[in-house]
Amino acid sequence: MNMIDKTFKSLVKQVFPRLKKNSDDDSLEQFVIISDDDAPKIIRENLQNASNELERIVYSNKDRRIFKWHHYLAIYDRYFAPLKSYAASLKGEKDSIFAPNGQLRILELGVQNGGSLQMWRKYFGPDAIIFGIDIDQNCAAFESKGTNVRIGDQSNPEFLKSVTDEMGGIDIVIDDGSHIASHQLASFRYLFPEISNGGVYICEDLHTAYWDGWEGGFRRPGTFIETGKSIVDHMHEWYAGIDTELNGMDLKRSVLSVAFYDSLIAIEKGEKTRPYAIHVGESSF
Ligand SMILES: C[S@@+](CC[C@H](N)C(=O)[O-])C[C@H]1O[C@@H](n2cnc3c(N)ncnc32)[C@H](O)[C@@H]1O
Repeated sequence: MNMIDKTFKSLVKQVFPRLKKNSDDDSLEQFVIISDDDAPKIIRENLQNASNELERIVYSNKDRRIFKWHHYLAIYDRYFAPLKSYAASLKGEKDSIFAPNGQLRILELGVQNGGSLQMWRKYFGPDAIIFGIDIDQNCAAFESKGTNVRIGDQSNPEFLKSVTDEMGGIDIVIDDGSHIASHQLASFRYLFPEISNGGVYICEDLHTAYWDGWEGGFRRPGTFIETGKSIVDHMHEWYAGIDTELNGMDLKRSVLSVAFYDSLIAIEKGEKTRPYAIHVGESSF
């Protein structure tokens, strides 16, 4: 095993400390391209072929380590680029519910090496309010001017409340924390209602929803893949009785869309009124 492979293996164990204990030992590693020969080449090529700003930021990164799957970058950009433009148009609008005074409020669960916080700062610019939370005390070191790190457990609603209070609301959440199903659900239950209309909630690395070590398994109740399906059901609560783990969130009035991508779910928040159909024009029969 060469140096880079060794570094990667230790990184995987750091990110996914449970990997060692379960039978999916190589599940993650088989998807990661990193070796002495390939890594610099792929990074160079991906930078040359970058189709969005986030890819350019990631593939030219020489700063703190970022750990993201390649295909997430285009998905993030698809959701975040319009929000950036909209926020820019709100400069001076201090009473705006979404991005007051043009300042997008972004919360990432899971800081680790601090690389993604730097990535978001580069991407969202100097005005954005960026907070990261992590259970690991060491992550406090990654705080910098305007980029805040708070230490605590993503499954603890009281801790999350202290963070969102400090942020003065949120427009974007990215859950890249423990990837444990019950934690993801607890975070979603508290944070989604806190997101301003127009914002988005993203939960990533959902391949773990199929892995036992993360409370996952095929169609196992409680995984965020199953929760995502429940969100789809609640969106349709206007038309049928729906009974899931998300009862009481009144999601039919606040979920505009739920999009499933490989290992990632994006949920758009907005004010949804009772749907209605219209008949306009002359009938043909
Ligand atoms: C995948 S890493 C984050 C990577 C980072 N966002 C990036 O893209 O470079 C996951 C992080 O979640 C943290 N974590 C694990 N359990 C947590 C919990 N219950 N609450 C908050 N953070 C947690 C870990 O300490 C780890 O730093």
